Amino acid sequence: MPYIDPAQDNPPIVVVQGLFKAFGLIRAVDGIDLTVKPGTITSLLGPNGSGKTTFVRILCTLLQPDRGTAEIAGLDVVRQAAAVRSIIGLAGQNTAVDDILTGRENLIMMGRLYHLDSKEARRRAGDLLDFFGLSDAAERRVKTYSGGMRRRLDLAASMIAYPPMIFLDEPTTGLDPRSRLGLWEVIKGLVERGTTIFLTTQYLEEADRVSDTVAVLDAGRIIRQGTPQELKDCCGGDTLLWVKLANPASTNTAAHTLRTLDSEKLRVDAVTGLLHLPAREGNTTLVQVVRQLDSAGIDIADLGLRQPTLDDVFLQLTGRRAETESREQSDDGLEEGEPSGRP
Ligand SMILES: Nc1ncnc2c1ncn2[C@@H]1O[C@H](COP(=O)(O)OP(=O)(O)OP(=O)(O)O)[C@@H](O)[C@H]1O
Ligand SMILES: [Mg+2]
Repeated sequence: MPYIDPAQDNPPIVVVQGLFKAFGLIRAVDGIDLTVKPGTITSLLGPNGSGKTTFVRILCTLLQPDRGTAEIAGLDVVRQAAAVRSIIGLAGQNTAVDDILTGRENLIMMGRLYHLDSKEARRRAGDLLDFFGLSDAAERRVKTYSGGMRRRLDLAASMIAYPPMIFLDEPTTGLDPRSRLGLWEVIKGLVERGTTIFLTTQYLEEADRVSDTVAVLDAGRIIRQGTPQELKDCCGGDTLLWVKLANPASTNTAAHTLRTLDSEKLRVDAVTGLLHLPAREGNTTLVQVVRQLDSAGIDIADLGLRQPTLDDVFLQLTGRRAETESREQSDDGLEEGEPSGRP
């Protein structure tokens, strides 16, 4: 595998400009500009239907954009599609492995599809099975594999040609926490070997744990881009404190009482009587909140600390929850493909 030193000021390996793709009235990808540094992990974080798969499919040459350009290692994904395919690997949302073959047979078959000779395909299959911790299960049919094993095999299959760039579309969706951790380790291991990874996810925690850069996708547009820490800072840091008031009617009084703590990031829902604020000092913040509400005579029904989620990021960035419903209702009556002029 070619080694790429991320410390070097290499030119970007992915350059996307003004990318646009509509399906009927749905603007699945609505004007994306993005660059990716070689040897890094970039996460595209967005809810259901925000356009993650469409974007990845365009970059992987499986779908043509309506407008805009995308280049991988200087190769245009439309005009030089075959060359692009030879330098990328893709593990899609549905695993592409064959149930009736064994793990090893799947990898060898995939290697042969990439025109490796049979000896080389066998050698790489063995290496990858080792690397992904699947050697013990190598001779078992894939239909007996767990979800996590399948995902790992799928990832191994995407790498059989040793591509310098790998796309992973929601690699850990549906996995239990332990398999998810295992997969994150594998992904980090790939980057240490110099691979560039572009992954999509709906989990803030995943974007946070594995990436160098996170881009937040909302209805086909990137609404924020930065390091994981920058992203968490925008929604109140590493830990959030939530308070459920016994009586929602006292929400405004409670918000007023707590304004000294972190008023800028205080989020209130007067209908449910739920308040959120950054717990920069963990339990200390929690104790302060209990004391202040108590001295103001406000009853607490429940409270706790939790990790921020994609929903928190969306609320902070857009003032609304992550939009997961269908986006069919394009309400401005523009023809398909016209710029909407939305802010
Ligand atoms: N082939 C298609 N024909 C029509 N509409 C499509 C097609 N592919 C995607 N869409 C629509 O484009 C939008 C973006 O879909 P996409 O699959 O890219 O989202 P996603 O972020 O990958 O979602 P998920 O998290 O559910 O995988 C959605 O509204 C979807 O219904
Ligand atoms: Mg998808």
